Amino acid sequence: MRKYKIGIIGYGGFGKFLHYWWEKLPNVEVVAIADPHKNFPSDENYVVYRDWRELIHDENVDIVSIVTPPGLHTEMACEAMKAGKHVLLEKPVAISEEGGLEIIETQKQTGMVITVDHMIRYNPIIQNLIKLGQAGTFGKLRHVVVNNYAQDEALPAEHWFWNKEMSGGILIEHGVHFFDIVNALGNQHYTEVYGCSDSRNENQRDRVAAMVLYNEGLIANYYHAFSGPGLFEQTTIHLAYDLARIEIEGWMPMKGTVKALVNSENKEQLENLPGWKVTEAGGLNTLRDVSRPEGWGSEDVQPEQAVVCSGITYQVDEMRSGTFEIPQTKGEVYGKCVQSIVLDIIQKIENKDHKLTITIEDAFESLKTAVLASK
Ligand SMILES: NC(=O)c1ccc[n+]([C@@H]2O[C@H](COP(=O)([O-])OP(=O)(O)OC[C@H]3O[C@@H](n4cnc5c(N)ncnc54)[C@H](O)[C@@H]3O)[C@@H](O)[C@H]2O)c1
Repeated sequence: MRKYKIGIIGYGGFGKFLHYWWEKLPNVEVVAIADPHKNFPSDENYVVYRDWRELIHDENVDIVSIVTPPGLHTEMACEAMKAGKHVLLEKPVAISEEGGLEIIETQKQTGMVITVDHMIRYNPIIQNLIKLGQAGTFGKLRHVVVNNYAQDEALPAEHWFWNKEMSGGILIEHGVHFFDIVNALGNQHYTEVYGCSDSRNENQRDRVAAMVLYNEGLIANYYHAFSGPGLFEQTTIHLAYDLARIEIEGWMPMKGTVKALVNSENKEQLENLPGWKVTEAGGLNTLRDVSRPEGWGSEDVQPEQAVVCSGITYQVDEMRSGTFEIPQTKGEVYGKCVQSIVLDIIQKIENKDHKLTITIEDAFESLKTAVLASK
């Protein structure tokens, strides 16, 4: 088995996290680290550079992992590819559309492999919901609401996160994760994007929102606040499909609930969700449609084998409710996601026909949505 050699540029919070989880993989090793602000010596496992340019020209390195503030991504990713390295770039791909396009162009010119770490796509809940969406189990995705109340206790006013030149702002730095998941779940493209925000002072725009209309009618609302105590940290994703209502909890999705209209052919598919437990099940003919209370002057037609949504007739005969939950800890799930992305890029290096889970074009699509919402 070939062992791939990784060089990490940017050894802060997340760079160290990646190193910790990649060290556990048998076919990769971190052989170089570049960070001008870290003062530790090389050891028998890796060489430490102050200048990232030395790392991208290190002949021992196969894959460059770029884990620096987003404002540095474009230059580092392009230079690394020009130096003949494959690139695993942290999100967001860039902080401007021009920056993203430059990376796409450089990838085409150099033919190197690049992916962007929208690692939530590897989460088993999201992966299964993507599959169920593709199979048409839930019908069309019509509405999404993302509410993300994040803490800012670890983000002092001088942190690069608040510097738009370095981070791009919350929707670009952080919001791209959720634009990306919704792109994967809904498989639609944005057509209209609106945004609004509030700033606590001149430099800290700490609460932002976006509303996005997609080409097949999905409307999604996104809210991100970095303004509260960690004790109130909470992320919820509400998905309203024609045939299902799904609530997901956790910015790294860990658990949730489903209420779905199913038929005998597809009801077993729900069992693919991690830790799926049915809490309620009943034939359509046994359920009361409370939208029309008793006494209402229209005929009470009780559907038995079909429902109509936006003019589409779906053959369903049962309502199933249940819960799902990943049995591992959040750290384990997160670690597995970042291991999956490195294994994915290796597969692509070894087989050019392999389809990356996250292409550079996927990352560019969520960046463009974020840029429009930030205007
Ligand atoms: N995919 C994810 O789940 C995820 C999670 C957290 C962070 N991130 C991304 O990772 C990146 C870094 O975030 P972080 O939280 O680790 O930030 P951080 O501030 O903890 O670390 C950034 C590191 O980059 C280093 N750096 C700055 N300029 C450099 C340069 N010119 N050359 C080399 N190193 C340089 C800094 O010294 C610092 O150690 C960001 O793009 C962020 O969005 C992704």
